[in-house]
Amino acid sequence: MDPRPIGVFDSGLGGLTAVRELARLMPEEDLVYFGDTGRVPYGGRSRDTIIRYARQDVAFLRSFDPKAIVIACGTVSATALDVLQRENSIPVFGVVEPAAHAAARATGNGRVGLIGTKASIRSGAYERAIEALRPGTEVTAKACPLLVPLVENGRFRPGDPVAEQVVGEYLAPVREAGVDALILGCTHYPLLRDIVGAYMGPSVSLIDVGAQCAHWVAEQLDRGSLRAGRPDAGRRRYFVSDSTEDFAALASIFLGEDVSAEVERIDITQY
Ligand code: DGL
Repeated sequence: MDPRPIGVFDSGLGGLTAVRELARLMPEEDLVYFGDTGRVPYGGRSRDTIIRYARQDVAFLRSFDPKAIVIACGTVSATALDVLQRENSIPVFGVVEPAAHAAARATGNGRVGLIGTKASIRSGAYERAIEALRPGTEVTAKACPLLVPLVENGRFRPGDPVAEQVVGEYLAPVREAGVDALILGCTHYPLLRDIVGAYMGPSVSLIDVGAQCAHWVAEQLDRGSLRAGRPDAGRRRYFVSDSTEDFAALASIFLGEDVSAEVERIDITQY
């Protein structure tokens, strides 16, 4: 048993897709979330900058003495997982490997779609992980740089003409390729799930990387006897590097509970 919190981070609010599932699977765990809302998006930045930001994010979370770190960000997972694992003595989990397992399980025809940020797609990390699990799988990947700003601005609901048009443009070649599974390779994208699902059609399985990662983390903590093992509900705290109001409003809608009292602003450049 280990009562210490789990540290979770993302460049913004996308990582809440992992938090929601972590909280559902392990309600007794304390969670500390950091969303780097002052520097989002990470996905168009260089590898060096992403690694520098990710090191600061982890350093902040480590000030809470967490038992594990969850990189609830496709961009950081695809770019910096190995670096962060090497530099930290506690388990560090990313979203790529759990998503690759889910895709390998979900595809029947061996054609998988992948959407993510520029940095995630450039890394080739998802393709390598899928190839290792299911050799010969054809992956059609598409970078979608406009999707994160849309989500961060609350433009993700069906009927939003801009979101629908942008999603349609990005996904046209992926639908054309005849995929039967699509990895939403960025933790922001599940918020666009309804729009993406309507465009791709009901026969395409949508893989939510944050949720897959949460299941993976729960399994690994069980295996390592690292669960908190207490009967009462854990505390969830949220930290951001920019205005707390916008984050709290969207996070409360998304998590289905008012979290505004638990959101604080920090200066990430001090870490
Ligand atoms: N949620 C992040 C990801 O999964 C967003 C990336 C970004 O900040 O550009 O990739």
